[in-house]
Amino acid sequence: MSEFLLEDLAGVGPATAEKLRDSGFSSIEALAVASPSELAACAEIGESSAAKIIKSARETADIGGFETGDQILERRKLVGRLSTGSKNLDELLGGGMETQAIVEVYGEFGSGKTQVAHQMAVNVQLPLELGGLNGSVIMIDTENTFRPERISQMVKGLPESEDHEWSDEEFLGNIHVARAYNSNHQILLAESALELAEKLHDTDKPARLLIVDSLVAHFRAEYVGRGTLADRQQKLNKHMHTLQRFADLNNALVFVTNQVMSKPDAFFGDPTKPVGGHIVGHTATFRLYLRKSKGDKRIARLVDSPNLPDGEAIFSVTTEGLQD
Ligand code: GTP
Ligand code: MG
Repeated sequence: MSEFLLEDLAGVGPATAEKLRDSGFSSIEALAVASPSELAACAEIGESSAAKIIKSARETADIGGFETGDQILERRKLVGRLSTGSKNLDELLGGGMETQAIVEVYGEFGSGKTQVAHQMAVNVQLPLELGGLNGSVIMIDTENTFRPERISQMVKGLPESEDHEWSDEEFLGNIHVARAYNSNHQILLAESALELAEKLHDTDKPARLLIVDSLVAHFRAEYVGRGTLADRQQKLNKHMHTLQRFADLNNALVFVTNQVMSKPDAFFGDPTKPVGGHIVGHTATFRLYLRKSKGDKRIARLVDSPNLPDGEAIFSVTTEGLQD
């Protein structure tokens, strides 16, 4: 993160800086990748003033111009990979879940989305040589399904290591959880997550994973008339951009869950399609479709990946966590 303050930018006085920070734009980098309309709405300024601030932020942060392929390759070299605990699933994902990306896991109730989320919250804390990112986790829990006891079980299930002694308390201490009570609250929490990540940035456990479980449940429950569909998609779109910003600024993985309806739903149409439609689908970099199989077995299908072949992997959800 740069050492510049928001107040260093052209057109940003103390009052505007305050409003920007309250809306989650706590750094020059965050402003540099904002859109004029979202900034204008957040800071209660005109769009042309917002555009000027963004331009100034881009110049100060030295981002926003065109990059050559080799520069992009350089940035891609920083991409980390987070192991899921299942070799099959890791292989399907080309070696684990990528950072600088949004991974959307969707499937029916009980298909294991929340279980995978818990496992990622454990694994991200592991050292690199054990498939982790040596980082901490921020979790937005919209359905009150985070269970510390489950984390403890998974920590006990970690492979034994001569160099490390796993303490579930330590793992729990690096998981920052907030309940989201409605979609607006959820949007605000994603913005707060950017601030928290900035605080954690220079610690020995920077935030490398943001979980939103479930991404769409509140949106689905609150927007029940066709008349409000555009409004919902617009809010969801803004939310997805905040999440992408988190992934980019922190070289982090953003892991979101999405439910598919087992029963056709008049409003949301095709029961086999994830909720949220094209907004979520186009913003997520990787999409995994989970379904139940025999016993504790689950089948994951990789859908629409930018650089990996589509395919399937089988893994198990056990008391000790995700396994082959
Ligand atoms: P929704 O949020 O309802 O859409 O479902 P989900 O996809 O998040 O499902 P979730 O991850 O909660 O999966 C629940 C399933 O995980 C259970 O039916 C069990 O099969 C499995 N599971 C959950 N906890 C345990 C556990 O402690 N031990 C074992 N062996 N399996 C568990
Ligand atoms: Mg769940």
